[in-house]
Amino acid sequence: MGKALFITGTGTDIGKTYVTGLIVKKLRDAGLNGGYYKAALSGAVLDEKGVLQPGDALHVNAVAGIGESIPQLVSYIYQEAVSPHLAAKLNDEPIDFGRVERDYHRAKDKYEYLTMEGSGGIICPLRWDEKQHVILDDLVKHLNLGVLIVADAGLGTINSAVLTIEHLRAREIPVRGIIFNNYIPHDIMQDDNAKMIEAMTGVKVLAYVKKGDKELDMKVEVLKGLYE
Ligand SMILES: Nc1ncnc2c1ncn2[C@@H]1O[C@H](COP(=O)(O)OP(=O)(O)O)[C@@H](O)[C@H]1O
Ligand SMILES: [Mg+2]
Repeated sequence: MGKALFITGTGTDIGKTYVTGLIVKKLRDAGLNGGYYKAALSGAVLDEKGVLQPGDALHVNAVAGIGESIPQLVSYIYQEAVSPHLAAKLNDEPIDFGRVERDYHRAKDKYEYLTMEGSGGIICPLRWDEKQHVILDDLVKHLNLGVLIVADAGLGTINSAVLTIEHLRAREIPVRGIIFNNYIPHDIMQDDNAKMIEAMTGVKVLAYVKKGDKELDMKVEVLKGLYE
């Protein structure tokens, strides 16, 4: 059985998928068997054949050269670009967490280093109906995962990163580190953002990803150490 790491973001569209692509690529380029899994993806696009295309999974699959099939990469694919709990309601297709757990463990058995991407930020309702109330952090806790946080390097990130870390700690979910995305080198505010988040939480900014970066600037040994 392999090791795993959960990727969350300080919000939606923050660059989780982009950074995850670079992470899995880095592992695979180093000759390691890196894989990808996502429990629920909303905002999928219908192709000309009427098949829903899960953009996040296809992006990481291509960038990192995993070569995996769609059903092994994502358990639930919804077209509506809304929170999974609402997309599930609109489609009358609620998430079965037994299935998510099986799919996750199958992926973890197959790959030495499995990177699981979340939906939205850490407080993202996955299921909210008469039978069950499940938020993304419940799933992360249930699967015993440690978390890496993708945060935008710019204005507002101290608030969203520190809140995310405090929430994870309140839920007793291990925080492995932060990656800054859309980073502009030598920007006084962005460098101070990193320093302030580190000082306030003790969590380190482990890597800085610039717009358009094709490689993750991080030692593969450090990256490997984040997986458990
Ligand atoms: N460092 C980056 N360089 C170039 N484009 C980026 C970068 N980070 C994010 N993007 C783009 O921004 C959009 C949102 O990023 P994405 O990774 O899909 O966010 P999330 O997975 O958190 O919702 C995508 O179109 C993605 O390609
Ligand atoms: Mg994504």
